Amino acid sequence: MSRKKTTEHSPSQAVTKASQETDLDLVISRRAFLKDTAIFGTSAFVIATKSFGQTDLDSGRSDLPFIPVATNTEDTVTLPEGYSYGVLTRWGDPIYPNAPEFDSESLGSAFSQKLSVGDNNDGMDTFSVNDRVILVFNNEFTNREIIFANRTTRLPETDDDVNKGKFAHGLTIVEIRETNDGWEIVKDSEFNRRITPDTEFSVVGPANGSDLIKTNQDPLGQEILGTFNNCGNGKTPWGTYLACEENINGYFSSSLGEKFNQNVYEKRYGIANKGEDWGYKWAQTDPRFDVSNEPNEPNRHGWIVEIDPTGKKKPKKLTALGRFKHENAELVIAPSGHVVVYMGDDERGEFLYKFVSKNKYEAGGTNTDLLHEGELYAAKFHDDGSGEWISLKNANFSRDEMVVYARIAASKIGATTMDRPEWVAVNPNKPEAYVSLTNNKYRGEKISQPLNMANPRKKNRYGHILRWTPENKDHAARTFSWDIFVLAGNPSKFTDLNGGSWNMNTDNMFNGPDGLKFDSKGNLWIQTDGDYSNENDFSGMGNNQMLMGDPRTAKIYRFMVGPKECEITGLTWSPDKKTMFVGIQHPGQKGGSNWPDGGSNIPRSAIIAIKRNDGSAIG
Ligand code: FEO
Ligand code: CA
Ligand code: CA
Ligand code: CA
Repeated sequence: MSRKKTTEHSPSQAVTKASQETDLDLVISRRAFLKDTAIFGTSAFVIATKSFGQTDLDSGRSDLPFIPVATNTEDTVTLPEGYSYGVLTRWGDPIYPNAPEFDSESLGSAFSQKLSVGDNNDGMDTFSVNDRVILVFNNEFTNREIIFANRTTRLPETDDDVNKGKFAHGLTIVEIRETNDGWEIVKDSEFNRRITPDTEFSVVGPANGSDLIKTNQDPLGQEILGTFNNCGNGKTPWGTYLACEENINGYFSSSLGEKFNQNVYEKRYGIANKGEDWGYKWAQTDPRFDVSNEPNEPNRHGWIVEIDPTGKKKPKKLTALGRFKHENAELVIAPSGHVVVYMGDDERGEFLYKFVSKNKYEAGGTNTDLLHEGELYAAKFHDDGSGEWISLKNANFSRDEMVVYARIAASKIGATTMDRPEWVAVNPNKPEAYVSLTNNKYRGEKISQPLNMANPRKKNRYGHILRWTPENKDHAARTFSWDIFVLAGNPSKFTDLNGGSWNMNTDNMFNGPDGLKFDSKGNLWIQTDGDYSNENDFSGMGNNQMLMGDPRTAKIYRFMVGPKECEITGLTWSPDKKTMFVGIQHPGQKGGSNWPDGGSNIPRSAIIAIKRNDGSAIG
């Protein structure tokens, strides 16, 4: 935990190297390294500036609540001194008193999976209901080689296997409580339930009743079965949870096999490429996942869904927020009372979106339908550090086409193709928002994804975090200014832009920024889903990790390192802020971990509860 001497790349090195690259690299490098001298105070910079008196070697701020940890490749969770953790729950843990315990031989069945925690926990949030705590979390997908490790093919072989995998998707909702032994699920709580790919949802917004979503099972286009591949999340001020459907394409196949020809819409959304799914085989037990049988079924997924944690209201598919590979949904109330939801579409060359509600929020009011109707925009970033939100209405699609094929509408209006937009987070202390752009091997390679100031590196392998400030401090505004908070990189390997921006050093380096969330004090927590090989371009970066960024100084400090082959994703707090819940997704994805149970146990995705040893608040 001691701090090593920091390796910094000097401005002269960077500019010299950069001059061998493109003009764009040169401009960015100069701006990055000269930001607090030549152009400080002008409107032209696009990289986060240092404050006066702040140096790259400055080890931190006086009120930093932890001593940063070094990177490592251990099969454990590493935290700073003075912090410790316990495992709250893992894939396969029962959520009801009479549900079977996880069976490490059979690895469960469809029956047991429906009664237990889903796999690959991702976005999550807590809700206080009469002094009780409800935890809602997404179960994004399954690692088939882990959950079917008892099968020679490491794939679902029987119908029951297929359904087990299916029911490992969706969401888990449980009441939790803290005991002397740490946090645990309250198994006999009436709040506990699973939401699965078979749960009934009503359709609200422009796609309700649309021909584009009608199927044999739902000829009116008003009720959809199920949610799956729920990635990040959001939370509304009226006490509901938003789960964001991401890689929904991986579940559809065609009974025509290789002879299946994708239409333009299926192609843009990656539906049934070559007639195949990604190995889930859902069409084997549920014909709606065969696109040749039910061509509109894919249009019924890829939405943001709204869920009442108490289970009193029926879940909804919010079609006004558009259909794409949703990462999270960061909701903020504009000064006017309009509800603004920022959303990333996580695919190379896709877009950053914003929804602005038609009606206004009133604190304590009864209007809980604000996400049913509004306007959808996609972002255009100009190279001078300005930007604008362009309404998808300009695409001149019909109302339902505009949301069902939001990607195509956003292309039509000339939004800026981005380097895989993941989570968006809004600073609670300042009108600004941040987005992780996790990586993009096509940047500068595909003609549709040219270099630009907002996505400045060719074959962006490390990712970056961009932020914007809306005009007039109003998140509903049409224009904004932006800069790059950090270019992640490896300064021990590179002196050019691949070494990262000034605030990246050998002590804090990382790649693949993904989860982003502010705590109540205004610290920006950064979770990574990057290359954990610790080799070559990624040497010295270790396992995936969680860091804390300071939005005031743009300094970044490593807080935690995860176990082998995991990503860190999902973050929330107990209502008293004395516990931070963090998601550890797919440890041992490549067979190299036995976390959290150790020994020869199978690795299991889990949620951990982190506390300060002195019991004080942690965010
Ligand atoms: Fe589910 Fe884009 O991560
Ligand atoms: Ca993610
Ligand atoms: Ca990711
Ligand atoms: Ca993931």
